[in-house]
Amino acid sequence: MKYKMYIHDKIGDRNHGYLISIDKKFIEFNIARIYYIYNVPKNTTRGYHAHKNLKQILFCPIGQIVFSLDDGVDKTTIVLDSPEKTLFIGPGIWREIRWASKKSVLVVLASEPFEENDYIRNYEEYIKLVQEGYWSDNDENSI
Ligand code: TYD
Repeated sequence: MKYKMYIHDKIGDRNHGYLISIDKKFIEFNIARIYYIYNVPKNTTRGYHAHKNLKQILFCPIGQIVFSLDDGVDKTTIVLDSPEKTLFIGPGIWREIRWASKKSVLVVLASEPFEENDYIRNYEEYIKLVQEGYWSDNDENSI
């Protein structure tokens, strides 16, 4: 699976507020690290990288964040604009991430410890790896 957005049921009501409970079945890896990104000025774009091996689950509990995802062939836009949504991103996906509203927060559950060598930060190098089939041998990573 390259990437997938899930919409979770919320528990509660407007008078008391809501709770989201995310079952283990939506978390397909052991979490090695959690990080979050905040205080990002509106319309800032971050990302501009892909990962060799890392799997991530991302959610935006506050605000609105727009993901432009690219598997080297097709491009998709996914908007996290609700605490009910989580986004799985597997290895080999180039992402550009725009902070579409002020005070948006991005929380990330990651399958591995931080490793700069896992990043591909050059788009030409990324496309070359896609064309060489760097990610295509692994069924787990195909859609
Ligand atoms: P990066 O993943 O490039 O974030 P973004 O794509 O949102 O800009 O990380 C930004 C910087 O933070 C980069 O220098 C790597 C560093 N970093 C860590 O030291 N540890 C971490 O767990 C993460 C995610 C990033």
